This record gives sequence, structure tokens and C-alpha cells, in this order.
Amino acid sequence: MGRELWSAVDGYICDLLVAPDQALDAALERSDTAGLPQINVAPNQGKLLHLIARIHGARRILEIGTLGGYSTIWLARALPPDGQLITLEVEPKHAEVAQSNIERAGLAGVVTIRLGRAADTLAELKAQGSDPFDLVFIDADKTSGADYFSSALDLTRSGSVIIVDNVVRAGAVIDATSDDPAVQGTRRLNDVMAAEQRVSVTEVQTVGIKGYDGFALALVL
Ligand code: SAH
Ligand code: DHB
Ligand code: MG
Repeated sequence: MGRELWSAVDGYICDLLVAPDQALDAALERSDTAGLPQINVAPNQGKLLHLIARIHGARRILEIGTLGGYSTIWLARALPPDGQLITLEVEPKHAEVAQSNIERAGLAGVVTIRLGRAADTLAELKAQGSDPFDLVFIDADKTSGADYFSSALDLTRSGSVIIVDNVVRAGAVIDATSDDPAVQGTRRLNDVMAAEQRVSVTEVQTVGIKGYDGFALALVL
């Protein structure tokens, strides 16, 4: 029982329930060709994000960590025609690949990529008096998750949803003595979420083609 079986089951689930899609498949292929790391969410996870956004009726979505725009496309497709998704990315090459993938998906009208360190672009959004986001997906560097979560709280309203990817790190998250900065960053994030009275949070472990990890789901009270 391990990664091989998890992948086989993900294959089974995706074959059954996640229809092949030209824009999404092309986004992965072009990201790959451009040499981007394959650290996008899995197709069934992308569809989960999409469904949560639809269930929530999200009209404004913020994403932190664009990569090639794979999760961006899943999320943006949940929006109504007048909806908006802002996605933050620090690597110009990632943003360039994402922009073309988003255009090919016909979503350029609803998606804006903001290039820069998320710490800076989040501060800009706040300074610009951005309308609150209904849903935030945090999926950038794992060292700054606690800061991104606090910024996300400032950019949301009561009833908003915040989802964080990669909160389990193959179980390494329970190792308080880990010298992996990503693990320490995730532990700081978890401590901040646990102590934050303005949210109700849970986390769920996941296995599949992307290995063993997990999502946090927070409701802003
Ligand atoms: N959400 C994407 C995957 C994102 S991977 C998907 O599932 O398809 C993480 C991304 O965060 C990478 O593209 C990386 O360049 C970006 N990133 C890392 N540090 C960042 C920072 N400080 N500010 C903004 N983006 C950052
Ligand atoms: C990594 C980042 C991710 O967002 C992810 O889902 C998996 C792995 C990484 O940086 O290794
Ligand atoms: Mg991730």
C-alpha cells in the first residue's frame, strides 16, 4: 500500500469522474514542456476546488501561487461571467506560461495574474482597498503560509472560505524538530490557524498521484 496504489486509484477516479478537457490537459502539457515543476494540484483535486467554489457561489477568488495556471483554470471556471480571479505569482516564466494557458482556456477576461512576491502583491491589494474575496486558495511557498493566511483574512469577509494546499507534507508536519523550512512554515501556519478566533478550520489528509499531503479548509466567521 503506497504511492503506486494511490496513483492507480487516482487514475480510476479521474477516468470515471474527471472528463478529459482540452484546455486543462494543454495547460499541463505546456507547463511541462516549458520545464515548470509538476506541483500543480491533481485533476480530481482541481475539480474539488472547482466544486467548492461553485457550492460557495464564489464571485471573487484570490489564488496565491499560480504556476502554469492549472488550479487557476479549475477555479476560474467556477465563476459567473462577471466574476473575478486574481492570482499571485513571483516567477515571470510561470506567469507567462500561465497567461497563455489561461487565454487558451478562454478565461483571460476573468483572470488577472499579479507578478511579484506575494507578500508585496498582497500588501498592494490591501492598500488598494480591494473588495473582499469569497474564496482564497493558498498554494505558494510553504515557508510563508502563516503570513499569507493572515493577509487572506484581511482580504475576506464573514462567510469567506480559505483553502490551503500541502498542510501535511507526507506526514512530516508532526515532526516538531524538523529542519525543513517548509515543515516549520506549515507548523507555524497551523498554529496561527488554530489560535485564530475569527475562523473555524479543519484539515484532511490526501493521497494520490501527488503523493501524501492534505488540505486545510477555513470558514471566516
Ligand atoms: N496552484 C498551482 C501550483 C502552485 S506551485 C496549481 O495547483 O496548479 C507554487 C507556485 O508559487 C510556484 O509557481 C512558485 O513560483 C510560486 N511562488 C513561490 N514563492 C512565491 C512568492 N513568494 N510569491 C508568489 N508566488 C510564489
Ligand atoms: C510543492 C508545492 C506544492 O504546492 C505542491 O502541491 C506540492 C509540492 C513543492 O514545492 O515541492
Ligand atoms: Mg500545492
